[in-house]
Amino acid sequence: MMNEKVLDMLNEQMNREFYSWYLYLSVSTYFNSLDLEGFEQWTRRQAIEETQHAMKIYSYLLDRNGRVVLSQIPEPTQKWHSPLDAVQAVYNHECELTGRINDIVRVTREVSDYSTEVFLHWFITEQREEEAMASRVLQKLKMIGSDMSGLLMLDSQVASVGQAEPTE
Ligand code: FEO
Repeated sequence: MMNEKVLDMLNEQMNREFYSWYLYLSVSTYFNSLDLEGFEQWTRRQAIEETQHAMKIYSYLLDRNGRVVLSQIPEPTQKWHSPLDAVQAVYNHECELTGRINDIVRVTREVSDYSTEVFLHWFITEQREEEAMASRVLQKLKMIGSDMSGLLMLDSQVASVGQAEPTE
């Protein structure tokens, strides 16, 4: 039987991953409104990945005979001031997710739940990659500033970000 605290934290994380889906979708919609197709594709692809992250936890909970609790997904911000503002929000969110995953790992160690700890290794690697990806785009947006041609060039570059990654 799973430790109650670990169970609760995994359920919270599953719901946070569903919220991540909403957040990326909101950002993707914003990029669509700006006709920045590359940014739109990147964030839409990322949104789909987030549902896969949530479902990974969902499946794990069922495998362990754990209770699945589907909470209300909060409404994401839907007003973005600039591409930089939107990508900054995505980056901040990924950093927060990393912190939450680390918190769960810490508790799995305290209660000797090694199975969950090993399960979460995948998420630790994924978070590192996603943080790095968002950070790279963010830094480029900062360098570009208000240069429209630079923004359009970056738009074509980010179109393929994450495209070759395996989807689990
Ligand atoms: Fe599921 Fe972007 O972390």
